[in-house]
Amino acid sequence: MAHIDFGGTIEEVITSEEFPLEKAKEVLGDETVAVLGYGVQGPGQALNMRDNGINVVVGQRKGTQSWDKAVGDGFIPGDTLFPLETAAQKGTVVQFLLSDAGQVATWPQIKACLNEGDALYFSHGFSITYKDQTDIVPPQNVDVILVAPKGSGRTVRTNFLDGSGINSSFAILQDFTGRARERALALGIAIGSGYLFPTTFQNEVYSDLTGERGVLMGCLAGVMEAQYNILRKHGHTPSEAFNETVEELTQSLIRLVAENGMDWMFSNCSTTAQRGALDWAPKFRDAVVPVFDELYERVKSGVETKRVLEANSAPDYREKLQKELDVIKNSEMWRAGAAVRALRPENR
Ligand SMILES: NC(=O)c1ccc[n+]([C@@H]2O[C@H](COP(=O)([O-])OP(=O)(O)OC[C@H]3O[C@@H](n4cnc5c(N)ncnc54)[C@H](OP(=O)(O)O)[C@@H]3O)[C@@H](O)[C@H]2O)c1
Repeated sequence: MAHIDFGGTIEEVITSEEFPLEKAKEVLGDETVAVLGYGVQGPGQALNMRDNGINVVVGQRKGTQSWDKAVGDGFIPGDTLFPLETAAQKGTVVQFLLSDAGQVATWPQIKACLNEGDALYFSHGFSITYKDQTDIVPPQNVDVILVAPKGSGRTVRTNFLDGSGINSSFAILQDFTGRARERALALGIAIGSGYLFPTTFQNEVYSDLTGERGVLMGCLAGVMEAQYNILRKHGHTPSEAFNETVEELTQSLIRLVAENGMDWMFSNCSTTAQRGALDWAPKFRDAVVPVFDELYERVKSGVETKRVLEANSAPDYREKLQKELDVIKNSEMWRAGAAVRALRPENR
């Protein structure tokens, strides 16, 4: 493990220098890793591990698009692709990568498939932290570990293919075998993590739910919409409003921020932009603090979890979600966005 100074706080991290792939293969040499669920994370993690020489089987309910996707990705029914329970029985590491609502629905069957000494693996602290609502309480005789990539399953795969990686947090809830930590780190390296940093199941889920409701998705979408609407209200064209709100961000600024940080961005824009951004950043920060406070409290108290489980357990949840998603897709702003993207030279 290495110790890195993150802005004055020393934290532990693990990279493939401290924990090489060869060591991960050694640790997982006698294991069968059963990846349950072939949605978004399932494919990313399963394919990376398979390419890294780990013995992987996939568990997925039959007759679904996800099953067909697994077949398309080279998993062979009856050999490396099975119904959920069969895969869970074969696995000595059972990666529970169903949707969080799906985990609640299938837990009684999956629990029955766990053998003494198995490792039960999560990529989210959700099911364990909110056990009062999920009823997911693992038996005492298994390891319970977490590796949570800090990115979409799609980039877990695409970053692996282009030679980079997605950073992941890891946590140990139960160490029955005495091997829980080395198993977690081996799996974290085998799925292609950039670096691994320690957390707890609780901190993982609190930060993750806050992040996706906040800056990563909810806040970002809300702030973009607010600025676009103000520009439109004052007579700017959709093309101008979209370019000034989204296209310039995604095609230029955020790439520079990714490479160099926001501090560098402040130092490398026009002095006009600099003066304005320096003045306005604190106003925006202070305006959203109460919203973030409310958000964190609702995450911590489990109110957000209750909402997710209720909404996503309804039989018609996909249709209902789709209706809401269609409203965004059909809005002027995102239709304007489609037109702007189509005009990019590479898309013309
Ligand atoms: N999305 C991400 O990139 C991401 C990032 C970090 C961590 N995670 C975590 O990784 C885990 C998996 O997330 P995900 O986004 O990959 O999930 P997802 O795409 O929503 O997963 C759907 C999977 O769950 C199965 N499923 C759902 N309900 C089921 C049920 N009642 N019975 C049986 N199977 C059911 C689906 O099967 P069908 O196709 O048959 O419905 C599919 O295989 C979660 O804990 C999530 O929080 C996800």
